[in-house]
Amino acid sequence: MKNILVIGCAGQIGSELTLELRRRYGVDNVIGTDVSLDKITGKLAEGPSEVLDISNTPRLVELVKKYKVDTIYNLAALLSAVAEAKPQLAWEVGLIGHYNTLEVAREHNCAVFFPSSIGSFGPSTPHQNTPQDTIQRPTTMYGVTKVSAELLGDYYHKKYGVDSRGVRFPGIISNVTMPGGGTTDYAVEIYYEAVKHGKYTCPLKAGTFLDMMYMPDAIKACIDVMEADPSKLIHHNGFNVTAMSFDPEILKNAIRKHIPNFELFYDVEPIKQSIADSWPDNMDDSCARQEWGWSPTWNLETMTEDMIKVIRAKNL
Ligand code: SER
Repeated sequence: MKNILVIGCAGQIGSELTLELRRRYGVDNVIGTDVSLDKITGKLAEGPSEVLDISNTPRLVELVKKYKVDTIYNLAALLSAVAEAKPQLAWEVGLIGHYNTLEVAREHNCAVFFPSSIGSFGPSTPHQNTPQDTIQRPTTMYGVTKVSAELLGDYYHKKYGVDSRGVRFPGIISNVTMPGGGTTDYAVEIYYEAVKHGKYTCPLKAGTFLDMMYMPDAIKACIDVMEADPSKLIHHNGFNVTAMSFDPEILKNAIRKHIPNFELFYDVEPIKQSIADSWPDNMDDSCARQEWGWSPTWNLETMTEDMIKVIRAKNL
């Protein structure tokens, strides 16, 4: 029986992952936590919900004991662009918070999931077909916290036997909770603006290729890597996973198949552009495929059709 605690359950990933975990493992076995109960609303509030600030380790211990938690999904983070504006807070939340989580996991025998990112790579990483094991010298605070947390996860696994696992996510495209302050957010915003106004102004320039993934595949990755047979795992933390790679022009053309008059303009934001330029164009995710059967379901065409359908139904 799994008893799962989700840190950051109201965020872009958490708001959908928590519900899927509850469908799979039972509503009462998945505890959603976030910094304020006001954030935990709607369907999310129908299961166990608690306030947790990741910097409050005694509170995390209290919840782990109260619910006999055996698995922690730590989704607390500041996304890349906002982390550049608040690097000290990004370090506190992204790295100190994860260190605290691993310490609690060590003492209370919990497995830990951690979402790393394409942001864990940097300008000196090969940008095409980026290998699983390669140079990681990120130049953003977001990336510094991500690569450090991957290494911490590997260390806690090797030194203490903590079952720490995770993936390197690309940009995640979703339609339940908006991301906030990420470099890849444009690929979410563009769909909303296309449906609402028929036009969008993109902060990244044409030709900026980045890996992306539709949320249902991201949720599948979060669960499948934790369910994987440990005897098959060579890596544990920071598995490259991707579903597609495109630039804003390719995305524009995919949207135009459904909204023919859609117009795309550009107003490049230098910080986001320089972050995007330091990240891979497309990752090689063959280790995840081989070690735990990773295989995405959604591609650009099927995702675009679904995103537009779902956003239209919201009648915004
Ligand atoms: N979506 C993240 C960001 O843009 C990347 O992992 O910050």
